[in-house]
Amino acid sequence: MVKSQAKEIRAYLLKKIPVHPKNIVAKAAKAFACSRTTVHRHLSRLLRDGEIIKTGTTRQIIYFLKTEKNKKILIPLEPSLKEYEIWKENFSQDFESLPKNVQDICEYGFLKMLNNVINHSEGTGVIIKTKWSPESINISIQDDGVGIFHKIQKSLCIKDVREIALHLSKGKLTTDPENHFGESIFFASRFFDDFHIISSGISYIRKNLDEDWFVETTKYKNLPGTGLIMRIALGSTRTIQEVYADYQHKNSEGILKFDKTHITVMLSKLPEEGYVSRYQARRICLGLEKFKSVVLDFKNISTIGHGFVDEIFRVFQLKYPKTKITFTNTNDDVQFMINNSLSQE
Ligand SMILES: Nc1ncnc2c1ncn2[C@@H]1O[C@H](COP(=O)(O)OP(=O)(O)O)[C@@H](O)[C@H]1O
Ligand SMILES: [Mg+2]
Repeated sequence: MVKSQAKEIRAYLLKKIPVHPKNIVAKAAKAFACSRTTVHRHLSRLLRDGEIIKTGTTRQIIYFLKTEKNKKILIPLEPSLKEYEIWKENFSQDFESLPKNVQDICEYGFLKMLNNVINHSEGTGVIIKTKWSPESINISIQDDGVGIFHKIQKSLCIKDVREIALHLSKGKLTTDPENHFGESIFFASRFFDDFHIISSGISYIRKNLDEDWFVETTKYKNLPGTGLIMRIALGSTRTIQEVYADYQHKNSEGILKFDKTHITVMLSKLPEEGYVSRYQARRICLGLEKFKSVVLDFKNISTIGHGFVDEIFRVFQLKYPKTKITFTNTNDDVQFMINNSLSQE
């Protein structure tokens, strides 16, 4: 082949890969009336030169320009998969121009959520997407495994899958306590502006700017696995360190430990339930003994039952006196119920 045509083919590939990422080989072979082998040879050269990225295997191969920031990458899941290699090879460069605090948050979310897919999903593949806008970056990670809510529900024998949002929001929830701490969803959901999990037809959303949680049923009931979307403004000033500082204390050796949590009481209430009851208190208390300090946030709660207060402030505290429970955002009614119960102890 003449040299100039080789150049032309490679220029064509660089121009058309963003348009035809999946069938670029066929398109180029047709455009230049050459064999697919020839096109593959030029793609290999561009890969070697670091100008393009290739993901997936055999029929699922997709090509990307290295400079192209919106990416969609399909990766078959194998136990040997290293999240840091995927980040380094395909994504880290895109994030280098961001302020360090946003870069750190994106790297944390990417690595920890992909690590979860590798360790917990039991799936066969994962799709990772980054979507850049002038204001923000979206990272989404979708696996085809057993699904996060389903996995936790089975492991903790929880009756209603909608309860899991509450347990996840507390932190220190893991289905593999020998190898894991149960921190990364807790922290990632507080680092990003929006943190969204979709699985088993349930959508679990943390909006940090409004300090709010949303749990909704979605129409995507049959979508397999777990979908995660993390979004942060490119100009966010939040830092990993300041969020850690809210939930960590120094232990006796001066080492910072995650031992404080914040619970939105509203999350313990299922829509069909009336006021906040003893059953909800039991859900709240599940696992709280792992923390030294717990803040119960009564935002949007107008009234609570006597059983709720009794279950938390008497039953749980008698059993686990080392966990200190405080409260915030109480209205007069709620405050009265708590004071009343505490004064009877
Ligand atoms: N992609 C996933 N598929 C299935 N289960 C998941 C997935 N990601 C997380 N989980 C479940 O959520 C739990 C909490 O995750 P995380 O906060 O990262 O804690 P850890 O990984 O330390 O257990 C995991 O123990 C696991 O049961
Ligand atoms: Mg994890």
